[in-house]
Amino acid sequence: MARVYSGAELVAAVSNAGGLGILGCLGRPADEALAEIRRIRALTDRPFGVTFVLHQCDEATFEACLAEHVPVFAFFRGEPSEAIARAHAAGATTICQITTVDEAIQAREARADVLAAQGHEAGGHMGPIPLLTLLPEVVAVADGLPVLAAGGIVDGQGLAAALCLGAAGALMGTRFLATHEAPALAAHKRAILAARPGDTVANDIFDILWGEAWPGVQTRAIRNKFIDRWIGHEDELQAAIEEIRRQRAQANADQNPDEMPLLAGAGAGLIHELKPAGQVVREVVEEAQQVLRALGAHIG
Ligand SMILES: Cc1cc2nc3c(=O)[nH]c(=O)nc-3n(C[C@H](O)[C@H](O)[C@H](O)COP(=O)(O)O)c2cc1C
Repeated sequence: MARVYSGAELVAAVSNAGGLGILGCLGRPADEALAEIRRIRALTDRPFGVTFVLHQCDEATFEACLAEHVPVFAFFRGEPSEAIARAHAAGATTICQITTVDEAIQAREARADVLAAQGHEAGGHMGPIPLLTLLPEVVAVADGLPVLAAGGIVDGQGLAAALCLGAAGALMGTRFLATHEAPALAAHKRAILAARPGDTVANDIFDILWGEAWPGVQTRAIRNKFIDRWIGHEDELQAAIEEIRRQRAQANADQNPDEMPLLAGAGAGLIHELKPAGQVVREVVEEAQQVLRALGAHIG
């Protein structure tokens, strides 16, 4: 997850528990990325990754991560072949997060090592296709590459369901926002804990707000007064954007949950407790094992 949502403590806690912690580099300057990578290395000797949104990739940050020999590079949006080749040349393993079958084929042909199929349930920027539909189609074209499932997975039941659909694992964001180590604002974490199923909504208003075009994807967030005011009124939002940006900066400073962007996946409705990130990793794995064992016993 992007700069303000991921940091060294979260990444290291996930990796120390046996997951692969990934540091978001969207919006992160090179010197800050370097400092975070060094802190990660002080907190864990396990593998970890960095992730770049290719159409907004900061070249200096990317170069710094290559020079640091970060073991895993993940990519999202944009044609990935050059980024993959550069990461491979630095000895890294690459993950391409994709939102359509065509993007999966493109990533496979660009020699990605791992695909991550991201469904419409995902938090943050996400694609148009529900995971249940997308994942088996991506597995079918993956040509043996491991495929991770992303979008709406917050517990072991979700992981087990993804494994049943052919996934090799899960890529989770929202569940890790609601952890002690996540650098997200406290009001954002509280909103995730309070969310009920159906409280998130896919929308175009944050890209207008941030002045960034993300062709082919929308943003999923918890519905609040800000979203209700502008969804369906995108032209008016665009017309008033400078004033709205000023108000929004204040809303963030005040941690006002009615007016903040509360990015979260559809699985937020299943998250009820703030936990240490390592505990999340362990519980998800244990619960998935229990579910799959019970399923096996049931089928005989
Ligand atoms: C707050 C937030 C920020 C995100 N930022 C990024 C990002 O910068 N780059 C990226 O590739 N994916 C980003 N994602 C999407 C994740 O990579 C992943 O697809 C998503 O979290 C999976 O769905 P889930 O949130 O339901 O677990 C973000 C997700 C969230 C919730």
